[in-house]
Amino acid sequence: MASKVKSVWFCTSCGNESPKWMGRCPACGEWNTMVEETVVTGKKSVSDDAVSVPGQGSRPMPLSSIDSSVENRRSLHNAELDRVLGGGIVEGSLVLIGGEPGIGKSTLSLQIPLACPEMKTLYVTGEESARQVKLRASRIGGNDSNCLIYSETLMENIIAEARNIMPDLMVVDSVQTMYSRNVESSPGSVSQIKETAARLLRFAKETGVPVILIGHITKEGSIAGPKILEHIVDVVLQFEGDNRGAYRLLRSIKNRFGSTSELAVFEMTGRGLREVSNPSEMLIPMHGENLSGVAVGAMLDGTRPFLIEVQSLVSTAAYGTPQRSATGFDVRRLNMLLAVLEKRAGFKLGVKDVFLNMAGGLRVNDPACDLAVICAVLSSNFDFAVPSDICFAAEVGLSGEIRPVSQTDRRALEAQRLGFRQIYVSSFGSPDNMPEGIDVIRVADVPSLCRSLFRNV
Ligand code: TYD
Ligand code: MG
Repeated sequence: MASKVKSVWFCTSCGNESPKWMGRCPACGEWNTMVEETVVTGKKSVSDDAVSVPGQGSRPMPLSSIDSSVENRRSLHNAELDRVLGGGIVEGSLVLIGGEPGIGKSTLSLQIPLACPEMKTLYVTGEESARQVKLRASRIGGNDSNCLIYSETLMENIIAEARNIMPDLMVVDSVQTMYSRNVESSPGSVSQIKETAARLLRFAKETGVPVILIGHITKEGSIAGPKILEHIVDVVLQFEGDNRGAYRLLRSIKNRFGSTSELAVFEMTGRGLREVSNPSEMLIPMHGENLSGVAVGAMLDGTRPFLIEVQSLVSTAAYGTPQRSATGFDVRRLNMLLAVLEKRAGFKLGVKDVFLNMAGGLRVNDPACDLAVICAVLSSNFDFAVPSDICFAAEVGLSGEIRPVSQTDRRALEAQRLGFRQIYVSSFGSPDNMPEGIDVIRVADVPSLCRSLFRNV
């Protein structure tokens, strides 16, 4: 059959293909995401059968007769990374590491081979020259004798070279720079990204070589890539954090071989990313004197408890309309909490500017931080310091009630481990096995919290 070039439209959000342009993608419902690309029809495309997994038997077989012996995992000698992967990287898996430009994807993916000198690694770079990679490697420091750097962007060459070398691990930086001759469109387009990922998946499954693939996302998360890739790859790890701040979170979004509630914490230093094995200690600055406007929340991110310092500043509004600003916290939720304080507890915050900040540049979504937020606000408002050995873990409801949160016992245990002497929780629900050695104070609503904590003001 003669090949023919035609135009199709792809949704950059979900990868849906359509023969004509549409304002709204019928598959994912996003607006203005369709982009035009030319594809060649009639030519045998490698990607057609690329996603099927060879070597696993093409005949249906009873579930009971399938070999379920544990997957072969390899440790990457990085405790944080091993944990988000579910205990090391699985042989033959395709792992996508996504994140905004400059967050540290290339740094992390170069640190992996440097930390594992016993593994032969093929490091394919499409963004930087081999010399740039070398400079970065010497900056990070490490024995790079077993890491092969390959500066190439053509997938056909990369796969051929990889089959020839048969490394123990392959890193591809980044999916947006790679292209295949099978597809007509330019690198970074939806069809090229799909093709690249499908080929790497096929290579990984056929040879058992684990492949780490890097993908960029923009601030809006708009670039075609990681969203589409999520369906193809086995594991998706996403970098989060402010690239001006030092902390980086690596979160598991999808994992075919483990839990998605895992989280790794790193700190960007002059010598690469450092593992932060005890995030709580890093997140709480050690200021000795009692400052007003500070309260510590015991939050849980995924399955990891850590304590975070909530800072607030309440001052008289300079203009008619008071300002409300929140860094690392949803400003609408802050407004809601302020309204609760106003309505249910009689504090006149309507004429005050309120600023809120989560220390360490983190973003907090856990509702358990509500109580720490209102305590920080009240503390700043009264200019009364909350004793530094108290922390909080509860949600605040619209009627001013203090609601219980999940796994209060684990939060209390983490607080106790870090030397806190009291934890405020909800009086509803009675969490079992609260640890010894920490006073658990149960409060039912905002007025009773104030009576207990701010009785002297
Ligand atoms: P990079 O890994 O190139 O980000 P990405 O691949 O995600 O785009 O690097 C991110 C930033 O980290 C870069 O601006 C420089 C900084 N950096 C350090 O602070 N210390 C280091 O040791 C390295 C290698 C990078
Ligand atoms: Mg990079």
